[in-house]
Amino acid sequence: MAQATAPKRTQTVDAPFKEITGFDRSGIAGVSKSLMAVLDRVRKVARSDSSVLITGESGTGKELIARAIHKNSARKDGPMVVINCGAIPSELLESELFGHEKGAFTGAHRSRTGRFEIADKGTIFLDEIGDMSPDLQVKLLRALQERRFERVGGTQTIEVDIRVISATNKNLTVAIENSEFREDLYYRLNVIPIKISPLRERPEDIMPLVEHFQSSLARRNSEYIPKIFPDLVKQVLGTYEWPGNIRELENLVERLSVLVEEDTISISDLPDCITGTGTDVTPAGVAQVFKNNIGFNEAVELYQKSLIVHALNETGWVKAKAAEMLKMNRTTLVEKIKKMDIEPENEMPVF
Ligand SMILES: Nc1ncnc2c1ncn2[C@@H]1O[C@H](COP(=O)(O)OP(=O)(O)OP(=O)(O)O)[C@@H](O)[C@H]1O
Ligand SMILES: [Mg+2]
Repeated sequence: MAQATAPKRTQTVDAPFKEITGFDRSGIAGVSKSLMAVLDRVRKVARSDSSVLITGESGTGKELIARAIHKNSARKDGPMVVINCGAIPSELLESELFGHEKGAFTGAHRSRTGRFEIADKGTIFLDEIGDMSPDLQVKLLRALQERRFERVGGTQTIEVDIRVISATNKNLTVAIENSEFREDLYYRLNVIPIKISPLRERPEDIMPLVEHFQSSLARRNSEYIPKIFPDLVKQVLGTYEWPGNIRELENLVERLSVLVEEDTISISDLPDCITGTGTDVTPAGVAQVFKNNIGFNEAVELYQKSLIVHALNETGWVKAKAAEMLKMNRTTLVEKIKKMDIEPENEMPVF
């Protein structure tokens, strides 16, 4: 008798996506452990109506994750309403959220439906929640606790059926300590926390993200997209800090695809801030020298030093090659290295 074999579990490991059974990844690329943990939480939380608080630096994908929760939830056919609490002046935000009745305040010529009502049977995404004024925090807390509210200037109580997702790049625990954020509201919002790591802590996501952005660009315009090889990603993009996180990477991939006409992208196509070669001689950079109270001689010395450090790093500290690159005599280079105290672990000098 044929021996029964356990069903073979297949998992697609092709970058940029790993399939998660029964879950729509909604264009979220990446393979890192931390992203997979986030997606696993998204999958679980989508089955519930619990409030979710997404935290993470700017550009890490907070809104994308919020959308994935909505899309995978039973509310997916209902609306997903996004409101940026940081972008709207606080006196207008209340009426944005809860609506207002005609004549509620100067300029309220007609009544208006608020976002909470629009989001009925769906999801409301309160973005930049950490920027909400303390006054409004009280009103929001009440609306969330009771699931009902009144429009500004109104008397009728409105009930809504909504799932609340909020997001912030602020540290709300610190904001609570500084009395800028209400602790009771924090607990109400943060039933399920989702923390998204910055890109510098998950460099293994860079290549899948690059591929993902390149294939969406290829779909948008039929022009040839220059290749970015894994080596470049590993050695250069993988060691960069990415202060703007995934948004910065997305913009870079698009910029390179538009500007580079070669078949492949090489290190010289990357901006100085990424390759670390930039001694900024733009007017802004020159102005920085004076701002930092660096005199002429010191600035010139720093510039020389950055050229040398760059050449040495580029040539793996083979001085003859570095001298050739600098179009300098090898002995002069050796002298300068000694005089300037340049060592292999030297960082590029910063003005
Ligand atoms: N894992 C990912 N896969 C594909 N695209 C991503 C991923 N994460 C983020 N992005 C893209 O990066 C950009 C920034 O993401 P998003 O707007 O969700 O970030 P955010 O955390 O809300 O930023 P901010 O704090 O500035 O509002 C978007 O274009 C988004 O589609
Ligand atoms: Mg956002």
